[in-house]
Amino acid sequence: MLVSILLFTSLSTLVIALDNGLALTPTMGWRNWERFRCEVDCETYPNDCIGERLFMDMADAIVASGFKDAGYQYVLLDDCWPAPHRDSSGRLQADPKRFPHGIKALADYIHSKGLKFGIYEDFGKKTCAGYIGSEFYLQTDAQTFADWGADLVFFDHCNAAAKDMKYGFPIMEFFLNKTGRPMIFTCPWPMDNRIQHIKPDFPAIRKTCNMWRIYNDIEDSWDSVIGIINWWSKDWYNMSAYHGPGGWNNPDMIVVGNFGLSPDQEKVHFGMWCIFAAPLLLANDLRSINNRSKALLLNKRLLAINQDPLGIQGKPIQMGDVQVWTKPILPKGSKAVAVVYTVQGGNFIRVKYPLEFYGLDAGEYHLTEVFEGHDLGQHNKSSVISFTVNPTGIYMFTAKPVN
Ligand code: GLA
Repeated sequence: MLVSILLFTSLSTLVIALDNGLALTPTMGWRNWERFRCEVDCETYPNDCIGERLFMDMADAIVASGFKDAGYQYVLLDDCWPAPHRDSSGRLQADPKRFPHGIKALADYIHSKGLKFGIYEDFGKKTCAGYIGSEFYLQTDAQTFADWGADLVFFDHCNAAAKDMKYGFPIMEFFLNKTGRPMIFTCPWPMDNRIQHIKPDFPAIRKTCNMWRIYNDIEDSWDSVIGIINWWSKDWYNMSAYHGPGGWNNPDMIVVGNFGLSPDQEKVHFGMWCIFAAPLLLANDLRSINNRSKALLLNKRLLAINQDPLGIQGKPIQMGDVQVWTKPILPKGSKAVAVVYTVQGGNFIRVKYPLEFYGLDAGEYHLTEVFEGHDLGQHNKSSVISFTVNPTGIYMFTAKPVN
């Protein structure tokens, strides 16, 4: 019903193309969901509840701890922020106890730090956590987000009919564009297609969204991280072909710095999200993150791989106990390589392949180990590169042609 009303009123002017010029490299920022979920008891948990304090604190920490300088720019307010009712003009409003100054004031604060603000909603009746949704109010809500100063809108699809997705996301993108405010648009369209066993229309998805979720919500565990990596290796419906500047497959947030991953597993998680050229949205507590995890997230060599202007999604050349992934990067002819040892026990494994195994067979290359920055020297296709990888660990290097 909603869809047909909106279609009749707006199809004549609907531009089915994402022309907002945003997200030319994978979006970097912080998002509360995996770490802070939907904690709304601000009396018991004043520092950890979904309220303005948490997001202001995190904006401060992004600046103070060097995350802003490294490129992390967006502060994203996920589900559970709305009050139960719209105001007398039909506009959304934030929960008044947890956001006493309103969302515009929060966005202003985040902007005052030189950062950008993103907000979550859902085109169904209710959000995934049961808060008021945007159904019947898409245009009003798009304008409200623009008026509040949003720079990104994360639009979910709970509590709405599957058949509405192909209309709902493009219509919301149309209304966002119409506001004239540039806002990154992110959606879970193919993820929902997968759950409903519908073949995703990737060309339409890419025309509509700047990033789109493909797979299950990430959790703070090795099973979850390796599950996403293994699933990514299947290149579902050739999804990597639609990934690149302006539109990104999104394997979900980064959980480095939380409770569930070992130091090696954190390196696998972050290293592989860089090989994927995935959006880097940190779901952790930047006020108290340990120095080792922080250094990993700020590693310039890893971030350069992730943010490489070509925006190519890395692919596996070998799966199994020893996974090998490669990603073309600049300068032309260069590659980033990741070797993941997925076995969960025993000792480290020694890996010895000639450079040509990695598809590096055109002359001389200069190799650099990525995590510590060790210079590995110059090699040609027959040089055997030897290194060890720990159980549930990773080794990464870049190879750049020597002219
Ligand atoms: C869905 C999304 C999550 C999060 C929650 C909020 O599950 O996939 O990332 O936004 O909704 O309720």
